[in-house]
Amino acid sequence: MIIIRHWGWYKMSKQRPTLLITGGAGFIGANFVVHMVNTYPDYHILNLDKLTYAGTLENVKEVENRPNYSFVEGDIADSILVKSLFNEHNITGVVHFAAESHVDRSIEDGTSFVTTNVLGTYTLLEAAKEAWGKADLLSENRFHHISTDEVYGSLGNDGMFSEETPYDPRNPYSATKAGANMLVKSFGFTYGMNIVISSCSNNYGPKQHQEKLIPTIISNALAEKPIPIYGDGENIRDWIYVEDHCNALDTIFHKGKVMESYNVGGRTEKTNIDVAMKICDILDRMKDDLDISSNIGSFKDLITFTKDRLGHDRRYAVDDTKIREQLGWAPEISFDEGLKKTVDWYVDQWTKVAP
Ligand SMILES: NC(=O)c1ccc[n+]([C@@H]2O[C@H](COP(=O)([O-])OP(=O)(O)OC[C@H]3O[C@@H](n4cnc5c(N)ncnc54)[C@H](O)[C@@H]3O)[C@@H](O)[C@H]2O)c1
Repeated sequence: MIIIRHWGWYKMSKQRPTLLITGGAGFIGANFVVHMVNTYPDYHILNLDKLTYAGTLENVKEVENRPNYSFVEGDIADSILVKSLFNEHNITGVVHFAAESHVDRSIEDGTSFVTTNVLGTYTLLEAAKEAWGKADLLSENRFHHISTDEVYGSLGNDGMFSEETPYDPRNPYSATKAGANMLVKSFGFTYGMNIVISSCSNNYGPKQHQEKLIPTIISNALAEKPIPIYGDGENIRDWIYVEDHCNALDTIFHKGKVMESYNVGGRTEKTNIDVAMKICDILDRMKDDLDISSNIGSFKDLITFTKDRLGHDRRYAVDDTKIREQLGWAPEISFDEGLKKTVDWYVDQWTKVAP
């Protein structure tokens, strides 16, 4: 089913340069949509999202009535829909976020990961190739694929992933993301498409789905439920605040070199147990202002170690020297600052829905 909002703008937008953003109702996509609508009033931002369990229009509510924004509900693997968008709009760039993104779900059943992450990416590439090829714009109009550091596999105690690290995905999610990267690169090599790929470490911040680590820690703490931590809690991730990632993506989309990949990281390696402890510290300091029913001593008492995830990658760390040195980007928000902002956002959401 296709639902197109804002018909007036939809008809007018045919000649206006349009940036197609896929997956813009999800966590990072929505933060990026808001950033782009606010930063570039001259772009028409067209958000294509299937609104799976992971996407919600609440995430883009603040821009829904803006004249340079419109939304289409639909599937990136629906080639008729995707081609019609290229025919009806003057799409001059694609920033492709839409994906099934939760590793645990991919371990349960990877089917939708293959369909969306691989076939969906191929469908978008084909539609872009057809539309841009006809107008001789394949080397000008940009296709930016949003990927992940998980494509590189797992690290031991030392070392970092660079852009040259060979792909070595270890779970169905990261395998489909690596597959999508390969397809994107192949369109650059084979057809001369202007492609760029960015691979980012773990994002955190407002609007992330409840099922991910940081929202789970916060919401379980607020509900005074056990806070589940996989295995021994010593798995390490490199964290970046979502706003810093959005600024990096803006930079890569506009300044990144054709056919290049850029790693984006926060240089903030933390074990999962450290992250949980830090969040509990923040919540402990806020406890008097929270409507907590029981006499909980510290939220840390709720931390519970659970059976480890299958094939749980031990450590990710991203070497982001290339984007820093070549494109002049660096993250601006420290982990402590970003985590406080994130906790404040979830507490605010929680107080709105709490009985
Ligand atoms: N979250 C992270 O830490 C992280 C890190 C690095 C890279 N990434 C990548 O960034 C992108 C966005 O991640 P996220 O965490 O915001 O994901 P998310 O799960 O929060 O959002 C995904 C969005 O894609 C939409 N979608 C799913 N299938 C679709 C389909 N077939 N057609 C159209 N829309 C569809 C969903 O409705 C949702 O709005 C993904 O490609 C992910 O691989 C995420």
